[in-house]
Amino acid sequence: MSIPENIRQQAQSLRETVDLHNYRYYVLNAPTIPDIEYDKLFRELQQLEQHYPQLITPDSPSQRVGAAPLKEFSQITHRTPMLSLSNAFEEAEVDAFDRRVCQGLEVGSVEYAVEPKFDGLAVSLCYENGVFATGATRGDGYTGEDVTLNLRTVKSIPLHLYDGLHGNHQPTLLEVRGEVLMLKADFEKLNLQQRNRGEKEFMNPRNAAAGSLRQLDPGITASRRLTFFAYGIGMHEGGGMPCDRHSSMMDHLASLRFPVARERKVVSGTAGLLAYYREMGELREQLPYDIDGVAYKVNNLAQQEKLGFVSRAPRFAIAHKFPAQEVVTELLGIDVQVGRTGALTPVARLQPVLVGGVTVTNATLHNEDEIRRKDVMIGDHVIVRRAGDVIPEVVGVVKEKRPGNASEFVMPETCPVCGARAVRLPGAAVTRCTGGLFCPAQRKQSILHFASRRAMDIEGLGDKLVEQLVDHAIVRTPADLYKLGVVALAGLERMAEKSASNIVAAIAKSRGTTLVRFIYALGIRNVGETTAKDLVRYFGNLERLMAADMESLQQVPDVGPTVAQSIADFFAERHNCEIIEQLRAVGVYWQEGSGVQQEELNSSRISGKTFVLTGALPNLTREDARERIEAASGKVVGSVSKKTDYMVAGADPGSKYDKAIELGITILDEAALLQLLQDSYRT
Ligand code: IVH
Repeated sequence: MSIPENIRQQAQSLRETVDLHNYRYYVLNAPTIPDIEYDKLFRELQQLEQHYPQLITPDSPSQRVGAAPLKEFSQITHRTPMLSLSNAFEEAEVDAFDRRVCQGLEVGSVEYAVEPKFDGLAVSLCYENGVFATGATRGDGYTGEDVTLNLRTVKSIPLHLYDGLHGNHQPTLLEVRGEVLMLKADFEKLNLQQRNRGEKEFMNPRNAAAGSLRQLDPGITASRRLTFFAYGIGMHEGGGMPCDRHSSMMDHLASLRFPVARERKVVSGTAGLLAYYREMGELREQLPYDIDGVAYKVNNLAQQEKLGFVSRAPRFAIAHKFPAQEVVTELLGIDVQVGRTGALTPVARLQPVLVGGVTVTNATLHNEDEIRRKDVMIGDHVIVRRAGDVIPEVVGVVKEKRPGNASEFVMPETCPVCGARAVRLPGAAVTRCTGGLFCPAQRKQSILHFASRRAMDIEGLGDKLVEQLVDHAIVRTPADLYKLGVVALAGLERMAEKSASNIVAAIAKSRGTTLVRFIYALGIRNVGETTAKDLVRYFGNLERLMAADMESLQQVPDVGPTVAQSIADFFAERHNCEIIEQLRAVGVYWQEGSGVQQEELNSSRISGKTFVLTGALPNLTREDARERIEAASGKVVGSVSKKTDYMVAGADPGSKYDKAIELGITILDEAALLQLLQDSYRT
């Protein structure tokens, strides 16, 4: 069946449009149409091709996925060997490289093309007459594996060379070299997916890229999002390659729609190289992909040729490596650290090792589950990663190196610092110390919380001061704060007598507080201000709260099993109760409320009484007054009747006032109301 010309043209134009949007999306990272539009175009092309299968070309965007799994990879011999770069770690080595290059070229200064050194896998892509024909891994540099079908699924790899001005004649052969990698974000997504499926997670983006590219089933590769960046040309035959510089060659590759690093530059001399190294070092964390250094290449291709190669590396280029962010070292033991919220964190004690230029002796293992998941045992060789300012972490184990006497980690049942019970709630990943305020490791943070504005509101008690107070064992519990004298404080670093006496005064002032603030200040897990309020409203006083069991705790509106358990655990620790006693002994006091449980105690006062408000009160708004009365279990109604117990009257009262007088109802002004409220709180 012959295909009408207009259909042929339609298919061609659809392919070009899909290619363009594919390029904008995957290479330029700048799509210009919504995904749904793209999908529509893509489906249109698929339908057309389904209808006229003769229209299908191997480089059609519809032909990326769908190849059957292979039994094994076949070998491909590289037309020119894929060499490697020599490495430089120190500035002096870079300087020596530049001097060698200048000497070899007999020039005073050399121009360099500089670019990121991608931390992925080297591949070579062969385009025959402009169409992607074969792709191979580096292998031993001479022979690699044929991963063509897998590379076809990588959306940023063009299936043909872009020929913007139709009729430009393509080279008969073009071999593009570059790196396949996985973007950091895609790596995170993949690992999350692996975790959810209960499958093995990948150690880093490089391993994930390698594992994905070397799949016999291209369908699996297609399901992993890989990316490609070109960094050079291995071979070029036929057609013009209008370049005399590496930098213009990269521009040329970009114009053929290959992804190239945005961060490439041209610099000159050692100073230019080192400035670029530092610039990229700072940028490293923010880049969407991992790099392990930067690559310096003599820019002039004729000069490159003149310099030639030594053994397996070019003389005209060098890799300047960043300090490794991932290294292998021995796991000597696992300590358990107590964090500020009482979380017990297993921390790896390591054979000291340089990671990213810094000596690392400890690394976090996060929690018990993570240790099991990564199958970490004491005595193992572990992979430690450190990135930027984040805490170094153990990311995996070198299983082959596991010694016979490797031992398993056991989470302690008591806090290693204070000996209180350590509990891991059902469904929680973290084990916590229940020592609360008594645990020294939690003390500093607890004291800071205790003193914070919404808790006891002690002005001037900042973290530097608390640190000193706890470190010098001057303050062990919040109660000790109230025993502090000016002399003890003034003896501390950066503490003048004036500020010492200010702090003593601020501490003294905080003695008078509210039960809500006090409960919040205790720092019970899961008990914030709102819960503290709910608890006070319900229980009325501290004794009843402390004595409450799980069942009655859960009677409190908004308190569920988790919060109830936190509260019960907290008060089950004798130390916590002791600290509360001490606080009362040093004079911390509050006015206790009745709580709804306790109506009978002061029913004669407010509870159950009916109030009517009229006129403007000097300080309280109508709402304030209502809230306070209701908080004390009184009732506020709109109109006066024989059943009304009290009238609260302010300025310019209305006719309700006259009626109340008539009925002989007790009239209160604001002061009298406040007095009544206060009395009702006394137990
Ligand atoms: S140029 C003659 N440029 O590093 C060698 N390589 O040791 C030409 N790599 O196997 C390589 N980023 O996989 C070059 N911008 C870059 C690179 C780069 C990463 C890898 C490449 C190669 C290894 C060199």
